[in-house]
Amino acid sequence: MLLGVSGGIAAYKAAELTRRLRAEGVEVRVVMTRAAQAFVGPLTFQALSGNPVRLDILDPTAEAGMDHIELARWADLVLVAPASADVMARLAAGMADDLLTTLALASQAPLALAPAMNQRMWQHPATQANARLLTDRGVRLLGPAAGAQACGETGPGRMLEPGEIVAALLEPRPASPLAGRRILVTAGPTREALDPVRYLGNRSSGRMGYALAQALVTRGAQVVLVSGPTALAVPLGLERIQVESALEMRAAVMARIADQDIFVAAAAVADYRVADPAPHKIKKGQPELTLRLVRNPDILAEVAARPDPPFTVGFAAETERVEEEARAKLQAKSLDMIAANQVGGATGGFEREDNALTVIRRDGRLNQLPLMPKAHLAEALTDLIAETYATYLATQGA
Ligand code: CTP
Repeated sequence: MLLGVSGGIAAYKAAELTRRLRAEGVEVRVVMTRAAQAFVGPLTFQALSGNPVRLDILDPTAEAGMDHIELARWADLVLVAPASADVMARLAAGMADDLLTTLALASQAPLALAPAMNQRMWQHPATQANARLLTDRGVRLLGPAAGAQACGETGPGRMLEPGEIVAALLEPRPASPLAGRRILVTAGPTREALDPVRYLGNRSSGRMGYALAQALVTRGAQVVLVSGPTALAVPLGLERIQVESALEMRAAVMARIADQDIFVAAAAVADYRVADPAPHKIKKGQPELTLRLVRNPDILAEVAARPDPPFTVGFAAETERVEEEARAKLQAKSLDMIAANQVGGATGGFEREDNALTVIRRDGRLNQLPLMPKAHLAEALTDLIAETYATYLATQGA
C-alpha cells in the first residue's frame, strides 16, 4: 500500500497507522508532502514502514531505485491519511504538482482518503464539492469524524483513529443494496403560474433532494432527478429532468415510474395551483384581486397507490408535533419510509445548509438524524434507505 501523508497536525497519527498496517502484514511505502514534513520527520516513517520514504518527485537517488511510475504501478491501494483540504482540492482538480498527486494520477489502484482539517474548512462548499467530485470518481472517503479539534473548535474534520482506518480498509465492503437499482427522486420547489410572468412558489432550495440523489449515485444506483427550478448544478452521474409546475412534475414522474425500484419524493410540491392562469399579463386595474386555487394531485400518494408501487420514501415538513404528523402522513399515503423535519424554528429546513431529520419506517421504527450539513444528512439518510430497502426486498422474497 502506498501511504500518502499530507500536512496537518494529524500527520503524527499516520505514524501509528503505518505501524498498525505493518502489524496486519501490509507492505507500506510512504510518500510525504512538503507540508507533512513540518509535522513529522521522514525517518519516523522509514523506521516504521521498513522502506525508504519518498519526498520529492525529482529525487535522483530514489529514482535510481523505483521511479515514480513504477511506484504508482506497484501500489495496490493509495491511501492519503491525513488528507488535507489542499490535497483534496489538488486531487479533485487532477493536479500533479508534487510526488503524491502525481502518483495518485498515475496509479490505477483504488484511492482512499482520510480527511483531516479544521471543521470550517471541511464544511466549506469548496471542500464539500471536492469531496463529492472525488467520491463520484470512486474515491473512498474514510471519515472525517466529528469532535474536539486541535484548533480548539468542535465539529466534523477530525481524522479517524488509525485503528478505525485499518478496520475500514481491511473489512470487505458489502455491495450496497441500492447498487444497480433504478431510483427516481423529485427535488426543489414547483412554480404555479398566475399569468405568463408571475407564479406562486415556495422557499425550497432543492439542496436536500440533490444531495440525496448524489448520495444514491455513489451507492451505484441509476438515478433520475425530476427537479423544479433551482440554482443547483446537475449532480454528476445522473439524468436530470427539469420541470416547473406540480402538474409537469407529476407528468414527468408518471412517465417514468413503471420501471423504478424506488421513489424518493423530496420536492416541495405546491398543494394548490391557480385555477385559471391568465393567458396574458394581469394588469393592475383593480384595487383588489382574488385568486382561485385548486388542489394539485399528490404525486407521492399517487405513486404509492399504484398496484405495483416502488419502495416509496416521502418527506414531511412540519412546524409542530413532527413525529406524530410524520407517522400520520406515512400511514395516510401508505409509504415505506418518511423523513420529517421541523420547519419554521431555529434549527433547520428550507434555504439552510444544515438540517435534522426524524426518519420513520413502515414498521414503526424511528431514527433521529441530528443537525448536520445537508450533504452529510443525505449520506446518513441514504444508509437508512439502503438498510430499509434490503429488509423490504427480503420480505418481498426478491
Ligand atoms: N408531495 C407530492 N405531491 C404533492 C404534495 C406533496 O409528491 N402534491 C410529497 C412531497 O414531496 C413530500 C410529501 O409529499 O415527500 C409530504 O408533503 P407535505 O407538503 O409535507 O405534506 P402534505 O401531504 O402536503 O400535507 P400538509 O401540507 O397538509 O402537511
